[in-house]
Amino acid sequence: MDPLREGETVVLRRREGRTLLVELRPGPQAIEGQGVLDLGPQIGALPGATVRWAGAEYVLLRPTLADLLGQLRRRAQIVTPKDAMYLLYLAGVGPGSRVAESGAGSGALTTVLAHAVGPTGRVYSYDRRADFLDVARRNVARSGLADRVEFRERDVAREGLDETELDSVLLDLPEPWEVVPRALGAIRPGGAIAAYVPTYNQLERTVLAFRAARLEEVQSVELLERALHVGEGGTRPEFEMLGHTGFLASGRRVVGPW
Ligand SMILES: C[S@@+](CC[C@H](N)C(=O)[O-])C[C@H]1O[C@@H](n2cnc3c(N)ncnc32)[C@H](O)[C@@H]1O
Repeated sequence: MDPLREGETVVLRRREGRTLLVELRPGPQAIEGQGVLDLGPQIGALPGATVRWAGAEYVLLRPTLADLLGQLRRRAQIVTPKDAMYLLYLAGVGPGSRVAESGAGSGALTTVLAHAVGPTGRVYSYDRRADFLDVARRNVARSGLADRVEFRERDVAREGLDETELDSVLLDLPEPWEVVPRALGAIRPGGAIAAYVPTYNQLERTVLAFRAARLEEVQSVELLERALHVGEGGTRPEFEMLGHTGFLASGRRVVGPW
């Protein structure tokens, strides 16, 4: 097993209690509302090590993507995990990908993208509002993924993107159709655009813009997630479920002119 290294983001998990994301570094650090903690002695420890602090016992772990998203501070409405993971699939995002997204919002999708592209990939995250960029930037930094992400303050519908030859562009903003012509110029042949919108009206305008831009493999999908209650001899769906989050649409840049 790979020992925990100085500078990496770790999870402090208390049994049946709160999970905290902290940087593993020597010296006292203030943990919000919890007091001061020195994790210096844990540098080089193996994931699963126990830490006694403030009269309680914590387990030290490397964070999963779920840990990172669970700790996110929210400002704008965020994309849900089920939708974010399928957006990766539709947009063809994987290790080493170079992708752009807009808007950054609270940075939930930014975190998912930065996690997916890995240390060799790059995420360019645009938002027209400095306050949202600030929240997103802080969330991504707390997740320990800041070195994979570049934030840019920009109205992408008016001013477009700086990059070219991107593998994909992901749009989570109210009017994706206004961005499509500009996004097209930033994508390599074979790359994809994926959008996430909450209403049918927005979906229709987005898909019409994809078609007008001659994107291929255009598809639209809605994902419904239903949790299951598992009890011996009584396993069934939970009675309540989240009825609606958003619709996903994607298309691929295949035809020229480039
Ligand atoms: C729903 S939020 C994005 C949430 C984000 N994907 C997340 O998961 O946290 C929409 C964001 O798009 C930004 N936005 C809207 N129109 C924009 C535009 N034309 N250019 C850049 N950002 C835009 C807004 O400022 C807002 O922060």
